[in-house]
Amino acid sequence: MGALVGKRIVLGVSGGIAAYKAIEICRRLVDAGAHVVPVLTKGAEHFVGRTTFSALASEPVQSSLWDEAEPIPHTRLGQSADLVLVAPATARLIGAYTAGISSDLLTATLLATRAKVLVCPAMHTEMWEHPAVQENLATLRRRGVEVVAPESGRLAGGDIGHGRLAAPETIVAAVERALVEPDLRGRTVVVTAGGTREPIDAVRVIANRSSGKQGYAVAAEAAARGARVVLVSTVTLPVPPGEVRVVPVETAADMQAAVQAEALGADIVVMAAAVADFRPVAPAAGKIKKDGGVPEIRLEPTPDILAGLGANKPAGQVLVGFAAETSDLHANASSKLERKRLDLIVANDVSQPGVGFHHDTNAVTIVRRVGDPISVGLRGKREVAKAVLDAAVALLAPRQ
Ligand code: CTP
Repeated sequence: MGALVGKRIVLGVSGGIAAYKAIEICRRLVDAGAHVVPVLTKGAEHFVGRTTFSALASEPVQSSLWDEAEPIPHTRLGQSADLVLVAPATARLIGAYTAGISSDLLTATLLATRAKVLVCPAMHTEMWEHPAVQENLATLRRRGVEVVAPESGRLAGGDIGHGRLAAPETIVAAVERALVEPDLRGRTVVVTAGGTREPIDAVRVIANRSSGKQGYAVAAEAAARGARVVLVSTVTLPVPPGEVRVVPVETAADMQAAVQAEALGADIVVMAAAVADFRPVAPAAGKIKKDGGVPEIRLEPTPDILAGLGANKPAGQVLVGFAAETSDLHANASSKLERKRLDLIVANDVSQPGVGFHHDTNAVTIVRRVGDPISVGLRGKREVAKAVLDAAVALLAPRQ
């Protein structure tokens, strides 16, 4: 989550039952490298303790315009913030902010800031649907404030309905999107993820160890940078937030059909999937039974999807392959780059500890047509995805 590193985020918490979820949001933001300054309203302190936030955030809690160490804390808080996040935002807080009433430190900070503001409403359904709240939110949106819509679910007092605070991961992803440079806005990125499964019979398949995590990380990073993402996937991991359309596939042939169709209008295609190189020539329609003896399974090569894309690449498209190697990393990757007519190839030595299949980390070398290889040491797959997309974006022609 590189976008949050070193960013100063004022986390405003107002007094609703969902205030307890702000603790989790605070922790996630800090974990992602942000400098989090918690500002609680008096109401929030009825629901959550100052100590919890002070311990988890980057600075102690502030909640008053008057008894803090400095005389006018809101101007410094507002001016120095990269982003102000209000989670949860009660109807009162939304109303005061819309009307420009700076009755406490949080509303004063909201009025004193020129930074991007994200408001995450949470309240009972009746309040959420009240025209006063909806009109206030429409006004805030018009002024450039981003409203992270609440969800449906269990509310305080056991009621079920609309108005529940958005999930912490949704809110953190919205913060990240707001802070990231949207260098892929208006672009389409096609990503493949996971290992293909080639049927032997009605119940058995030839599979491989790919988890799909690296492909999903590329999709998540591209979406966070504003791209429309098409994720052609053989696995069912949580769909990354943003504009991501998943096309589920199973075999190399399915993947080829989907990728060929989707790649036509794409600016960047990233083949992170582990495509089976061989498949049974004639999969049995039913289950192969043991009493027929040990079967001989004849294999044939699958289509090389990436080589097909390279041969028919539209002008201006950036084509990225992956290469899982166990020896001669650089030489093997460079020869694949040439053979498949790629712009970039991301090579990983899967014999190294912590690298490749099933790990949450990866270490890669990005080999380019022009320029030295870029070496990315062992780190999270999202960080690797960022480096891959940085290299791809550098090759995109500027928009007309
Ligand atoms: N790939 C593909 N279609 C295939 C096999 C691989 O599109 N039938 C893609 C993979 O998604 C990856 C790249 O080609 O982006 C390299 O895959 P890899 O298996 O490392 O290379 P191969 O071409 O299969 O070569 P080898 O197995 O001999 O190393």
